[in-house]
Amino acid sequence: MSALFSPFQLKDVTLRNRIAVPPMCQYSAIDGVTTDWHLHHYAGLARGGAGLVIVEATAVSPEGRISPGCTGLWSDQQAEGMARIAQAIKAGGAVPGIQIAHAGRKASANRPWEGDDHIAAGDARGWQTIAPSAVAFGAHLPKVPQAMSLDDIARVKADFVAAARRARDAGFEWLELHFAHGYLAQSFFSAHSNRRDDAYGGDFAGRSRFLLETLAAVREVWPANLPLTARFGVIEYDGRDEQTLAESIELAKAMRRGGLDLLSVSVGFTIAESNIPWGPAFLAPIAERVRREAELPVASSWGIDAPAIAERVVAEEQMDLVMIGRAHLANPHWPLQAAQQLGVERPTWVLPAPYAHWLERYQVAQ
Ligand SMILES: Cc1cc2nc3c(=O)[nH]c(=O)nc-3n(C[C@H](O)[C@H](O)[C@H](O)COP(=O)(O)O)c2cc1C
Repeated sequence: MSALFSPFQLKDVTLRNRIAVPPMCQYSAIDGVTTDWHLHHYAGLARGGAGLVIVEATAVSPEGRISPGCTGLWSDQQAEGMARIAQAIKAGGAVPGIQIAHAGRKASANRPWEGDDHIAAGDARGWQTIAPSAVAFGAHLPKVPQAMSLDDIARVKADFVAAARRARDAGFEWLELHFAHGYLAQSFFSAHSNRRDDAYGGDFAGRSRFLLETLAAVREVWPANLPLTARFGVIEYDGRDEQTLAESIELAKAMRRGGLDLLSVSVGFTIAESNIPWGPAFLAPIAERVRREAELPVASSWGIDAPAIAERVVAEEQMDLVMIGRAHLANPHWPLQAAQQLGVERPTWVLPAPYAHWLERYQVAQ
């Protein structure tokens, strides 16, 4: 009996297995509106067999996009495109999820394959970035953001709520708040980027406030029977790891009390000079610790592309869901290949009938 291929229930949603496609930006939207690329991309991933497909970081406001090519959810036209994508994911047998996001000081950047750096000053494609404090990320993202006023903070929280409503009405059944990767929410939590001396900075409570208030506000509009989740960087690999992890676990507990159903455990990416121990499933022991100490279901990713490792991290209860990112870009039928490698009986059950019928006796080359 495979742990990876066992169903997972959270609230009223049941995933057909523990495999999730994590949010992965396609940088291919026009004015935040999805294109045919997105529709085919997400439909194909859902057909591939994952239990959950989470649509990429989708900005809650124009200035919250990472790049001009990022998707948005601040207009009805954007929501119409997203509704088609949610429907296509469902038709492929996966649960449709979406990550809503604000990129903060990392916004206004070129696409990764066009430099990955901040759009140059004076280039009309760029815009003024905002963040808790006027502190730049540095390295390839040197633009100094504007420190947010209390009105800015209230407005961005309201933007998250409006985007959550649109996601709900578009048919998504799983919502992920992007509180990770050095973007706006993570930069409120980290003392590296938050130098405020008001209620939204300073001590643990102050640095947590924006995240907890945003969660509470979204909880009001997101259906109680559907999973509300967040992705959060619990560690920075900056030499202060134990302290950061302890604070992160406290925050995870507070989020659980605030109605969070699952935490996607990731890295903070708040500073350019971190020392990340890249390697297969390097975050798994940390995900396990957060899961155990915060008493929350967790998902995690980073370098889990071997089916045996994916099976192990679920079987050993290090995580409830395994996020398979780049391996899904390489092979949208990764779940089928995994099922075959793990010797799962009738692995084609994860596929729609027009594929499953033919693939039952056909081994995908390993
Ligand atoms: C093309 C690409 C786009 C990504 N976009 C996002 C994103 O929108 N939101 C997010 O939280 N992480 C994003 N990530 C990180 C992935 O969700 C994932 O954590 C990462 O790829 C590590 O998993 P893997 O080793 O299985 O690829 C992105 C990664 C890639 C490769």
